[in-house]
Amino acid sequence: MNLVDHMNQKLKLVKPSPILSFSVLADQTPGAVNFTVGEPDFATPEHVKEAAITSIQANRSHYAPSNGISELKEAASNFLKQKYDQDYSPEEIIVTCGASEAIYTIILSVLNAGEKVLIPTPCFPLYIADTMIAGGQPVLIDTSATDFKLTPDLLQETLDRESDSVRLLVLNYPVNPTGVTYSQEELNALADVVRGRDIFLMCDEIYSELNYDQKHASLAKTLPEQTILVTGVSKSHAMTGWRIGLLCAPKAITQELGKIHQFTITTAATVTQDAAREALENGPDDCQPMKAEYQKRRDYIMQVLTNLGFTGPQPRGAFYIFTQIPQDLNQDDVAFAQDLLQEGKVAAVPGSYFGPGGEGCLRFSYATSQDNVERGMKLLQEYVQKQRAAQ
Ligand SMILES: Cc1ncc(COP(=O)(O)O)c(C=O)c1O
Repeated sequence: MNLVDHMNQKLKLVKPSPILSFSVLADQTPGAVNFTVGEPDFATPEHVKEAAITSIQANRSHYAPSNGISELKEAASNFLKQKYDQDYSPEEIIVTCGASEAIYTIILSVLNAGEKVLIPTPCFPLYIADTMIAGGQPVLIDTSATDFKLTPDLLQETLDRESDSVRLLVLNYPVNPTGVTYSQEELNALADVVRGRDIFLMCDEIYSELNYDQKHASLAKTLPEQTILVTGVSKSHAMTGWRIGLLCAPKAITQELGKIHQFTITTAATVTQDAAREALENGPDDCQPMKAEYQKRRDYIMQVLTNLGFTGPQPRGAFYIFTQIPQDLNQDDVAFAQDLLQEGKVAAVPGSYFGPGGEGCLRFSYATSQDNVERGMKLLQEYVQKQRAAQ
């Protein structure tokens, strides 16, 4: 008897994340500088921590309403309006366990068996895994030939090819792993392609506070009736471990999404909801000093990479650089990254781990201290010079 063989067969399609395994390997490599980590290296702001302590001391240790405490939903509604001119009333918002649960809830809620999800790649791999678990079919759209952006032509071609069974388009901006983002005009042009079709847009805007060169643009403004917005405090307030995300959609859709949320997790933790309320209500600009620091690191790394002959898009958001390995070095990104880690003591994630279009690239996260950035870039320079000298 092998009970594992009798488990949900869809799990056979899903593999454990190679990004996480590579990150663990980096942590276990003595002296290595780790550029794999996808979370802020800053501490959660003091006033947010204090709000959580107050909440614990006030015995806020009971279930919250399933869709979230009303004060947090109110604070989120105001934050989204003030920051990005997005119109979501508190009843159109669900507080989730991180953006990850929001993504799972949406994918499970909107898909019928066999329906397709369009996912521009390279991408955050959760979208693909969740689609498989939901019994859907991921359709990966390689964006490497269009500066790592989905274009209206690419979208139209894919829709023509995939016909009627497309139910969801995933858009993440700023993008993990490439750091590119979209202007409002670019998003409007994509909206024109899907407007009026029976297709949902899942807009993952978890990095909305980390736009370096332009105002954050959003499809929630252009096509609110088809958009389901995913956001949260993980990246904006350095709160990844607190597990608070936000899911926003028109009321009739939110009511349906709430069923999966309710029967999966009941509600997010009360104390961390209180902390998130404080973050959004009294710390809307908490991200600004972090952003200034990220930008310095980004510029430093980009300078070193460019001098070494790496090429790629200028990152305009999030805290990632996606870069093409120079042509004179090993183009197998997995082998390159492994050797760079073992021999060079620098850990960057192989680009192919993020799907089609990532081959021959590496992702550097600059959510690590300036000291680490400088040490890591020195090691990278030494490694590349050694490789070239040996040719
Ligand atoms: C694009 C993107 N969406 C969602 C998440 C998950 O966010 P959370 O930690 O709030 O679940 C991440 C985390 O790295 C991400 O990069």
